[in-house]
Parts: sequence; C-alpha cells; structure tokens
Amino acid sequence: MSISQEIESKINIVELAGRYLQMKKAGVNYKALCPFHSEKTPSFTISPVKNLAYCFACHHGGGPIRFLMEIEKIEFSEALHILAKEAGVELKTDYYKERWEKTGDIYDMHRIATDFYHEEIKREENTEKLNYLLNRGITLETIDRFKLGYSGNPRELFARLKEKGFTEQNIIDSGIFVGPGRDKFYGRIIFPIANFAGHTVAFTGRITGQGEPKYLNSPVSDIFNKSAILYGFHLAKSTIAKEQSVIIVEGQMDTVALHQAGITNTVGISGTALTKEHIGLIKRFTKKLYLCLDWDKAWVEATFKSLENLYNEDLDIYIISLPEAKDPDEFIKSWGNFREEMKKALSPVAFYIKEGAKKYNITEMTGKKAIWEELKKMLKHIRNPIEIDAYIREIGKILNLSTDILYSELKNFREKRVIEDVKKKDGFERAELIAGYIRLYSYFDLFLEKFQYTLSDGMSIPSFFVIKNLLSARESGKEDENIDIDRLSAIELFIEEENTTLSQDIITGKFLELVGYLNKLCFEQEKKKLLENIDPNSTEYMVERHKLQEKAKKIGVKFN
Ligand code: GTP
Ligand code: MN
Repeated sequence: MSISQEIESKINIVELAGRYLQMKKAGVNYKALCPFHSEKTPSFTISPVKNLAYCFACHHGGGPIRFLMEIEKIEFSEALHILAKEAGVELKTDYYKERWEKTGDIYDMHRIATDFYHEEIKREENTEKLNYLLNRGITLETIDRFKLGYSGNPRELFARLKEKGFTEQNIIDSGIFVGPGRDKFYGRIIFPIANFAGHTVAFTGRITGQGEPKYLNSPVSDIFNKSAILYGFHLAKSTIAKEQSVIIVEGQMDTVALHQAGITNTVGISGTALTKEHIGLIKRFTKKLYLCLDWDKAWVEATFKSLENLYNEDLDIYIISLPEAKDPDEFIKSWGNFREEMKKALSPVAFYIKEGAKKYNITEMTGKKAIWEELKKMLKHIRNPIEIDAYIREIGKILNLSTDILYSELKNFREKRVIEDVKKKDGFERAELIAGYIRLYSYFDLFLEKFQYTLSDGMSIPSFFVIKNLLSARESGKEDENIDIDRLSAIELFIEEENTTLSQDIITGKFLELVGYLNKLCFEQEKKKLLENIDPNSTEYMVERHKLQEKAKKIGVKFN
C-alpha cells in the first residue's frame, strides 16, 4: 500500500465531505449539490464504501486527497499533509515536509492563537473586556461559538508558540506579531476569521475604547485571501443550505448579532465589496441572496457596487434597508424584528427606484424620465432577457409606464450606446467584435484554430490587443486588468442583441467570417512585406509567391 493509500484508508470520506457539503442520504450513498459546478439537482455522490466523493456531471472530486485538493484549492502535498495528520500517519519525505511547513505551521499557529485569545477573555483580570462584549449584548454562548477572545498580553502568545517548537521566523511570518514578538492585536477584542472548513486563517481585532483604527486585520497571507473570505461562513453554511438563502452584512459585529438572534444564515464581508469569489462560494449553496449593508453616506453607492458584481450571476437578489439608519447589530439590540425587514426587502430595481425617488419626484413626468435614465444604466449590465423582462415589468408598474415604451427606449439606448462605443463602420474595430464573440460564446479554441497567424502578427491590426489580452487572461486564469470590461460588455450586448434570433450555427458562421477578415488583413500585410522587400525577378520571390498562393487558398482570399 502506498503512503497515500494508507492515509486515505484511514479517512472517512463522509465525514470529510460533510465538513463542506450539505449531504442527504440516498441508499448506501450520500448526495449533495456539486461544489465544483452550478446545479439544481444534486449529482455529487459520496460513497462510504468506495471512499469516494465524485460528481458524475462535471467529473470533479475523487478520493479524500483529491477531494480536499479540489475543494480547498490546494496542492497534492498540502492535502496529503493535512490528511496524514488527521489519520495519524507520519510522513518522512522532506519534500512534503517542506511544502507543508509553509502553510501547515500557519494553520497550527492560528489555531493555537485562537485558543489562547479565547482563554484570555475568560481570565479574571480581563473581566472588563469580557464585559465589553456582554454589554454589547453578546452572550457567553455566542462568545464560545465564534471563539471570540481578547489579547491581554503583548508577549505571552509569542512565547507559547516558541514553546510549541515553531521557529521565530515562522512565528513572525504568521502576521500575528509586530516587532520582536509583540502581539499585533494587543489590547483588542479578537474575532478569529475562519475559512470554509472552520480553520482560523486570520484575525480582526476591535479596540474597546477610543482610537484608530477601530478594527485591525491580519495581513493577506498564504492562507488568508481577504476577497474570498466570508466571515462566519463555516457556521452559516448548513442554515444557508437548509433555508436556501443567505444574508450578507458588513462586518463582524453584525454577523455575530444576527447569528445570536437566530438568523444563522448570515455572513459578513469586511471592508470590501462583494467579490466574484464570494459569489462563487455562495452559489454552491443557494441562489437567494439578501444584501444588508451598513447605512452610511456611501451606503447606496456600496450597495450599487456590490450589485454590479451580482448581475448576470443567475441569482435572486434582495436588498434590506433597515429603518432609522441602523446597522443590523443596533437594529437587533433595539428590539427590531429582522425577519420582518427581510420580508420587506426590495429587488434591485425597486431599490434603485426607491433611492432615486428621494432625488426625483417620480409622480411627475420629468422625475420619471430622470430615474429611467439611471435605471437604463443599470439594465445595461444585465444580459439575460428573462431578467430584463422581469425588471422592465416591475419598472413599468412602479412608474406607471407602458412596458412597450420602456422596451423600445431601452433598445434605442443600447443602439445609441453601441454606435457611440463601437465604431465598426470601417471594419477596423472588428478585432473588438471578435473579442466580444470569444468571451460571450467561449470561442477561445475556435479562434486559435481559425486564425492563421500568430498573436504577434495580429498586433498590427487595430484593437487586436483586446483579443490578445483576453487570450492571455484565459491562460493565466485571471481577469486581465488591461481589458476594458465596460467596453467589452457593451460589445457583447451589441452582439447578443444582433444574434438573439439566430441559431448557434449561424452565430458561429458570423464569427468565422469576422476571423476570416482578420486573416485577410494579416495576409495583406504579409503580401505587402513580400512585394516590397524581395526582388520580383528572383527565384526567392517565386517561392514566396507560391507559398502565399497556397495560404490564400487556405484562408479563402483572392490572390493571383
Ligand atoms: P462596531 O462599531 O463594533 O459595531 O462595528 P461595525 O461593524 O458597526 O463597524 P463599522 O460599521 O464602523 O464598520 C464596518 C466594518 O468595516 C467593520 O466590521 C470592519 O470589518 C470594517 N472596519 C471598520 N473600521 C475599520 C478600520 O478602522 N480598519 C479596518 N481595516 N476595517 C474597519
Ligand atoms: Mn455596529
């Protein structure tokens, strides 16, 4: 038996998968919604007999090691180490050991620190700090559940970690300390931030008196990716799955307060808008999402910003606005009924109109027109015709306008925008159109197959860089910052509008025609270069000319 087989044989896949998934028993196996692709009926199967967790639709998952690698997005060696530890199997290979030390130690240190802070807050000399939380209405039970703590000693944690055998360098690298062994969070109430599986990956510390900053966070590290973490997710995920909805608030206190009030499908974002990574995580569990962001000057803007990331995600979105400008924590404390407010939550359109109505008088024609101008800007982000239709109807109803008019207005708006935006009259912006097709219909491979030149050959074509950036973004798996997403979205919108009634074959045909045009442009360039640089009476000229003729045939251009 190999070492990995030995480890896997000692791991119970049902227990392991159960940390991440909401599973239902189905005969001898368990079923769950696949964590690796989006689906409505569970096709992810967990087999205790085979010790497998596998999706028959997208073919992700596998044995315990493979499952852990894919779900935590970690490498083989790291998964192996985590499970080896759980299985009580000792790994001897240095290679694995080295790799593991990078992150494994950080996890361990964070676990030890979490326990340390949690013990601290219960020490007699820190009663005052415990009272800070109790006075804010947080119960002891909640303190335990969220493992809240206090950092009451600037150096003890450092010493304790050293005692446990961590090297000084490792301890410093953990991000928990400043200077030689001084606790970064000293004097602060500690909120451990856990990942999906419930392991602490960072801390945030709140000052109990006056002072700046109010909250202090761990730095981003190998285990802490701020834009992918939702505070409280590990405690919320089972309720999210059960109730099929999630509530998103801003900050730790609000998350904790709502959990304590029994609304345990709440998660917190801290100091960032809702990101695509957050949404990916949430979508594994539910498609119904309530946003309840902090009320302040920037509140409406912040909500809009998060909403922008939510369009086209196939989600049902609701916005909760609490009365009297309170945050959820204060609202609950003043005996507010949060579930009632959830019932009153607004769709994005209704929310826009409600906020807009504060600026304009929507019972008057001028006000209606003004708010419609703003709504159009929102609608332009939405690609799904069903979603657009639902929103248009809602707008028509609220503003008392006919949907026919709104539709034709929207169409005009889009066309005008596209004409302004995508000047394709002279054919020079076709590269952008092609980029739009590639992104919209995933024509990456098709493009590479049909484009007869290299990407650097193409760079002499106007706007070709958009295609190039798109392809390199796909290569690296990240959105390229050089891509003007707004412009590309406008182009996509244009393409979709133009192609709504067409079959996929015809759409592909249109795309190939565009690529053909690029081939022609490149061909012309190649030809020009040849004719300019080689003596027409030379044999070399004849050879090259023949090559060009062959190429012309292949890409379908005339060349004699
Ligand atoms: P309480 O004041 O304890 O009720 O917290 P709150 O959540 O109401 O705080 P606030 O509305 O001021 O801020 C919302 C969230 O933004 C916080 O929970 C933090 O995650 C973050 N935040 C607030 N102040 C700071 C700060 O000074 N530094 C950093 N890094 N984040 C902050
Ligand atoms: Mn607050």
